[in-house]
Amino acid sequence: MRTDTAPTISRHDYQPYPYRLTQVTLDFDLDPGQTRVQAQLQFEQAATSLQPLVLNGQDLQLESLALNGRALTPEQYQLNDDTLVVHPDTGTFTLEITSLCQPDKNTSLMGLYVSGGKLFTQCEAEGFRRITWFPDRPDVMARYRVRIRANKQQYPLLLSNGNLLEQRDLADGRHEAIWEDPHPKPSYLFALVAGSFDCREQTIKTRSGRDALLQVYSDVGTYNKTEWALDCLTRSVKWDESRFNLELDLDRFMIVAAHDFNMGAMENKGLNVFNAAYVLADADTATDAAYRAIEAVIGHEYFHNWTGNRVTCRDWFQLSLKEGLTVFRDQEFSADMLAQGLDGAEAESARAVKRIDDVSTLRLAQFPEDAGPMAHPIRPESYQEIGNFYTATVYEKGAEVIRMQHTLLGEAGFQAGLAEYFRRHDGAAVTCDDFVSAMESVYAKQNPGKSFDIFRRWYSQAGTPRVQVSLSYAAEDQTCTVTLRQHNPPVGIEKLSTPPQAKPPLHIPFALGLLGQDGQALPITHEGKAADTIVLDLCHEEQSWTFTQIPEQPIPSLLRRFSAPVIVEFDRSNADLALLTRHDSDPFARWEAAQTLASHQLLALVQAFARNTAPEVDPHFIGTWRSLLNDTSLTAAYKARVLSLPSQRELLEKTTPMDPLGVVQASRYLRVELGKALVEPWLATYHANTDGDTPYQPDPASSGRRTLKNLALNYLMAAQHPQAEQLALAQYYDARNMTDRMGGLSALVHYSTSTECGRALDHFYEQWQQDALVIDKWFTLQAVAPTTSVEKIRALMVHPAFSMRNPNRARALIFQFCLNNLQGIHTPEGYAFWADQVLALDQTNPEIAARLARAFDNWARFGQPQRDALHQALEHIRQQPKLSPNVSEIISKALN
Ligand code: ARG
Ligand code: ZN
Repeated sequence: MRTDTAPTISRHDYQPYPYRLTQVTLDFDLDPGQTRVQAQLQFEQAATSLQPLVLNGQDLQLESLALNGRALTPEQYQLNDDTLVVHPDTGTFTLEITSLCQPDKNTSLMGLYVSGGKLFTQCEAEGFRRITWFPDRPDVMARYRVRIRANKQQYPLLLSNGNLLEQRDLADGRHEAIWEDPHPKPSYLFALVAGSFDCREQTIKTRSGRDALLQVYSDVGTYNKTEWALDCLTRSVKWDESRFNLELDLDRFMIVAAHDFNMGAMENKGLNVFNAAYVLADADTATDAAYRAIEAVIGHEYFHNWTGNRVTCRDWFQLSLKEGLTVFRDQEFSADMLAQGLDGAEAESARAVKRIDDVSTLRLAQFPEDAGPMAHPIRPESYQEIGNFYTATVYEKGAEVIRMQHTLLGEAGFQAGLAEYFRRHDGAAVTCDDFVSAMESVYAKQNPGKSFDIFRRWYSQAGTPRVQVSLSYAAEDQTCTVTLRQHNPPVGIEKLSTPPQAKPPLHIPFALGLLGQDGQALPITHEGKAADTIVLDLCHEEQSWTFTQIPEQPIPSLLRRFSAPVIVEFDRSNADLALLTRHDSDPFARWEAAQTLASHQLLALVQAFARNTAPEVDPHFIGTWRSLLNDTSLTAAYKARVLSLPSQRELLEKTTPMDPLGVVQASRYLRVELGKALVEPWLATYHANTDGDTPYQPDPASSGRRTLKNLALNYLMAAQHPQAEQLALAQYYDARNMTDRMGGLSALVHYSTSTECGRALDHFYEQWQQDALVIDKWFTLQAVAPTTSVEKIRALMVHPAFSMRNPNRARALIFQFCLNNLQGIHTPEGYAFWADQVLALDQTNPEIAARLARAFDNWARFGQPQRDALHQALEHIRQQPKLSPNVSEIISKALN
């Protein structure tokens, strides 16, 4: 492990690699204890003069090195911890490297590692250097030919990228396979898998009539759990053809499930490796949410085949080039799947459910990041450890920046822009700027004289912009003037510079509608057209627009569809919000109005608790909730979103200083009050959304009903309705799918005060102990239970089923407790526990440790005593002698 502080790498220091790599041949002699890799690399001079050849390597043992067939002696090269430097004397040459690595000692899960007795690789971003010395950077692309040798019994299946050329038995019970990938690729897209698997497959015809073999590999005995994954993959292939005109360019596309995996999944060319949590599903073990998540991740990785693999990143600062774009694409895929078979307002409302979920994620994970010490533009300017920059900003805000381009260009324009992007850059490693230029070429044609000069700033500016809205109505001439003023406050390290640097305005597409006092839409005439929703181009600090023929004082519906990742500032009455909650024709804005109302109510309660005054719930608020609950025009899925209170973490972000215990109290209080006040409709909703004997399907309509039913159950439990516990217990024990079973158990865990809850938890463990993904849920339920203390977590950590080495398990218990159990974690023992776990994880898996280290990025915004206690816990981590560069970067930025 490296110990000193890692150097900072800056975007502006990019230099092209001085050589091209024309062919890579790799020979693997697989053995979990010691794997030998022989690499033959053919280089060609790219710079004008001969330069030293610098290769990256990590945790490798060099056996031999030869240049153009002649062995090199140690005086002829320089070898240190992370580089190998060779001095070629001709422009074209072959380098042969033999090295050893130790997969079973590799707990970082980067490079070649062991999971469940099988071998897997993870190379993005810089894992390939743990396999062999190599120019491990995305702008060096090459063709790969890979020979894998291994014991046949232990590793009957040997996979790598591309096409299988040959497979044969060798002496001593070994066998070999040879794979060739026809597509040049950067090293981060390399993959190798070896082991014993079940395989589900299907041959499909691509649009041009080619046959392609789709395969899903999973643990032996799990064949029955891969039907959904293969179905998602086929739908992804079809969707990319029909929506984006992008066809699969491979004869064979494989997905392999691994139980130990740092992230969700990885888009290696033709050989995606997935966290098993995003592959395996059946009715008995996977929830509706898991089915949807699998669909999203399978889509995401598949869509990378074009956006990421065919056109890749020049350097890691450009990560959002592939991630923001691909998240946008997977969001659209999921939305289209929800809206399948629907049209008009119904389709719009179905798509809005996905939009609501995505915006919630953005606000929960990205807004706080953009306001804290790790704030960075979607194209970061510098990093110490690239593994720390797979962030909500690069991914989720990156997707919002793509979505704004979609809004500015329209669907057809965006299609044209994307086609132009591929026309210009297919097969190349490019930059975010290249992408924007392709989009801009279409925009400029649509809007003569306009450019993306201002829009481009989204790529270089961190922080969430604030948009202040003011509106004035002149009854005498029936005009309404809307003024938008944007404000981009300094964030993160920007706050350290004095005087604070002024940040220029951004190009913000701001979607707006107007409602009359009766809730009906007032059409707006803008740029010669009348419409219910218009998009204003805010490009300066302040701009005003005047609309004519507005017959009455309007109520504005702001930032419809969440047309830009900004915070809207507009003071308005609860009465106006209630009207929007009932009538806004934009389903996103309507949900937003309900959430804002709920936040107002919750914040008032937090204040009341802080001041020790009597908490009061506004009867109008309850009335609004009642009318939503009784609104028969809403789908169950949408209604469940509208009637869910903002999460405790989201609310915490809105308190100043942050008051975790007040938030817990207020949330619980309001849930109880809403439960009590609306008992009858909750009960009716519960029963009306209970599907009788129909077999389980993860379809949007029935899963929407389950979500709403489970929400109703929670409110009834909160209210301690006399029937609620019986309903929850019956739902738990009689469930015929995991969504209902978890719904029942979760309600018990959160609200039951009887011994039945413990019995049900034991029963659950007994029932599912063989299924790792289900046991993860068991740990999570207990991690977030309001009664769970640090002591309880420590007890669960010595449970035989717990392992710190398995990232899913660590996330299920430790991360969930630290992030989502506010009353358990915000205690002196809680903070000490957190610091201990960061340090423990850092010994084995720095990438995962660094994620946990980020849990209290926002420590400085807490009130006392939390603020000092968190500071102390951070200092404690900083003072440890052997921090990984990953954790060290996070902690030093937090304490800056
Ligand atoms: N490219 C992958 C995805 O977005 C993520 C890989 C991240 N790997 C890592 N070690 N941080 O699907
Ligand atoms: Zn991705």
